[in-house]
Amino acid sequence: MNSLQKIILALALPLSLVACSEQESSTPAPQTQTSAQSPGTSVAPDKGLDYDYYVANIEPIFLKHGGGFVGTDTACVSCHTTQANAPLGLQPLTEINGQERWTEEQSRQNFNNVVMLVNPSAPETSRLLLAPLATTAGGDRHSGGNFWNSTDDPDYRIIADWIASGDPDAGADPIVELDFDFFRNCVQPIFVNPIDNAMPCIECHAGEFAIPPPPNSYWTVDQSRLSFESLSYLIDPGRPESSRFLHKPLHPNAGGDLMHNGGRRWFSQDDPERLALAEWVRGNARGDQCPAPLQFPNPPRP
Ligand code: HEC
Ligand code: HEC
Repeated sequence: MNSLQKIILALALPLSLVACSEQESSTPAPQTQTSAQSPGTSVAPDKGLDYDYYVANIEPIFLKHGGGFVGTDTACVSCHTTQANAPLGLQPLTEINGQERWTEEQSRQNFNNVVMLVNPSAPETSRLLLAPLATTAGGDRHSGGNFWNSTDDPDYRIIADWIASGDPDAGADPIVELDFDFFRNCVQPIFVNPIDNAMPCIECHAGEFAIPPPPNSYWTVDQSRLSFESLSYLIDPGRPESSRFLHKPLHPNAGGDLMHNGGRRWFSQDDPERLALAEWVRGNARGDQCPAPLQFPNPPRP
């Protein structure tokens, strides 16, 4: 169950039947969008946030160029389409009357994804606000760079005030914790065990998540920690469908990224190895007992 579905079950029981039928889809169920129709009614999956206000004031910020504070001129949407698979999961733009825009349906989907990243009970802790905010102003590390150098930035304020207008009882989506033991024992070996005719990940990603193990022995715990931290930026915990680690090496014909210089490791979404990894990303696979698809010969076990 992903975090959206948890929220639906926990907060909007009457909707749960609808949501169950949507469990396999990779985008949130359109049925969860009740915002405009039911403002102020108990706690809803929209966290009490107004959709029309979102379309008029928040979405334009995602399209804005030149918002970048430290040298980045890139609009959020350039990196955050569902194809690129970073959290936020904006829909690709559609050309409408010669203008690049979102359709009503796409905006609804964007809204659902955006709502997952906000916390009306403590707006300033929202992932949507922390990622683009400079770390010097209390923001999080963000591959997309800094957009707001302080919490006084007008765009920051617009988004923060919108979040604060939501239901004060609606919190952040539950944070799923990735299990380190499972990573060290069952995931990390992937990086040195290529499929046939492929190069191992360590050939190209050694400076990042695919740290090479010492000769003829297993990674030290410190090496595993570093690798784990680095890989965590390629994972949206709880949501395999927005985790680049599961997306980049997936063949485009199976819904993977259009480009990966490293070739492909999985040719179907249901590849057993990929499914086993998705269970880990969901927070379900823990400990040092590896399922069959994640048992590898290298490197030698301690
Ligand atoms: C140059 C590409 C790029 C741009 C531009 C960009 N981002 Fe990102 N963003 C990323 C990548 C890659 C990630 C995932 C890795 C990470 O968290 O650094 C990410 C992560 C995020 C996250 C999730 C952070 C978390 O808690 O996991 C949010 C929210 C976000 N970005 C919001 C934005 C917003 C809002 C904008 C525009 C103001 C923006 N980004 C612009 C690339 C970008
Ligand atoms: C031949 C070199 C090569 C190999 C082997 C390779 N990659 Fe890559 N990978 C790249 C390059 C170059 C990029 C960045 C450009 C791109 O997206 O293609 C990349 C990007 C990625 C990204 C996205 C990183 C980001 O910051 O968004 C992921 C995830 C990834 N690779 C996973 C893997 C995994 C897992 C393996 C092993 C199964 C692997 N790669 C093997 C070259 C490689």
